[in-house]
Amino acid sequence: MAEPTRIAKLELDGKSYDLPVHSPTLGPDVLDIRKLYGEADVFTFDPGFTSTAACESAITFIDGDLGELLHRGYPIEQLAEKSSYLELCFLLLYGELPTAGQLADFEARVTKHTMVHEQMHNFFRGFRRDAHPMATMVGVVGAMSAFYHDSLDINDAWQREVAAIRMIAKLPTIAAMAYKYSVGQPFVYPKNSLSYAGNFLHMCFAVPAEDYVVNPILAKAMDRIMMLHADHEQNASTSTVRLAGSSGANPFACIAAGIACLWGPAHGGANQACLEMLREIGSVDRIPEYIAKAKDKNSGFRLMGFGHRVYKNFDPRAKVMKQSADEVLGLLGIENNPTLQVAKELERIALEDDYFVSKKLYPNVDFYSGIILDAMGFPTSMFTPIFAISRTVGWISQWKEMIGEKNQKIGRPRQLYVGAPKRDYVDVRHR
Ligand code: CMC
Repeated sequence: MAEPTRIAKLELDGKSYDLPVHSPTLGPDVLDIRKLYGEADVFTFDPGFTSTAACESAITFIDGDLGELLHRGYPIEQLAEKSSYLELCFLLLYGELPTAGQLADFEARVTKHTMVHEQMHNFFRGFRRDAHPMATMVGVVGAMSAFYHDSLDINDAWQREVAAIRMIAKLPTIAAMAYKYSVGQPFVYPKNSLSYAGNFLHMCFAVPAEDYVVNPILAKAMDRIMMLHADHEQNASTSTVRLAGSSGANPFACIAAGIACLWGPAHGGANQACLEMLREIGSVDRIPEYIAKAKDKNSGFRLMGFGHRVYKNFDPRAKVMKQSADEVLGLLGIENNPTLQVAKELERIALEDDYFVSKKLYPNVDFYSGIILDAMGFPTSMFTPIFAISRTVGWISQWKEMIGEKNQKIGRPRQLYVGAPKRDYVDVRHR
């Protein structure tokens, strides 16, 4: 960590404490409170980490007020337009854009690892057919540590690298297998002559009885969806991966923990919930009813795909996603898709409504992604698994960054205890 740029003072009970202030490359300054407990015998209280930086990171930066998302300094809009998912993976993992040779080598390394251990096929068969693919993925990715023993040693940089490549390569295969299993079709092996995104579509939609040709429009759209979900700095699932990894847990177990966290409807599960909500609304004339419900605190209902902890202006990913939805549905000749019409009108009405304006609630990445995935032929239950495939590189990059730190410590928050004070045990006869 760089030297502090100045010192803040905390006055407490007549004493003064120095808090070093660190200045990041971008973003607000950070008060360093690491010595506070030792010196002043107090904790800080910040449930939900609304004001707490839990780590140093050089991977992704979000400016919530400007609606800006940078990966290693590069704006997401430029990456989404000019780059590819695997190039972005390289950037996130290694810090710089690859040369043509480095990219070809990286693509070859990922491609070589797309198959899963054959015995994993049996493992899938232990699940119920109607299991949610996210449930299957949490189990299967966690179980990778039972199959790939030669990439479990987190203190060996080479093994960390192999684990990273394995997960980026195999997550699409595992997600596609979870899908195939749920619809009762045979697993489709990866085809390494296809692109990363094209191969995923192939593994999901090909069947042995027919030839399947990947639609290049859909492969490109899938690649872009993956790019838009690749990393998002210290979000809930990434923080989960870091916390799990801080104890020294193996990388497969850590990513399984991240997948479990992602599943929640406030996080990655929102894409499934959002499309289900749009379908439930069904037609433009029912929108006011749902807007009123979202504003009513007693209803327990929120507009899914709306709002974000960090973005208080707009989510730049949502802008690209909306444009992509228009393009893809247009190219497929289904631009009059009723769900897209409901989404656009809902967005327009919400953005003019005082409640949403005053609370700075805007469409997030999940608002339009489901419409594209639906048009591609995916059931809603596959939306969050596709988010998980895409985010795997972010989780691994953040995990590798953490493990590579010299002073890495186990994550161990403190608490504001509000339970009973110390008391004596009471025998059952006297209670
Ligand atoms: N609909 C209606 N009201 C909302 C919504 C919404 N979608 N989101 C926030 N609010 C209200 C909330 O009730 C609260 O009101 P008040 O101040 O009167 O109590 C205020 O806005 C602030 O909400 P919060 O829950 O304190 O904000 P947060 O930063 O803790 O939560 C969020 C952020 C994304 C969890 C939340 O906006 C939400 O639940 N959105 C819907 C789910 C969703 O789309 N999640 C995907 C997030 S982006 C992709 C990802 O991270 O995976």
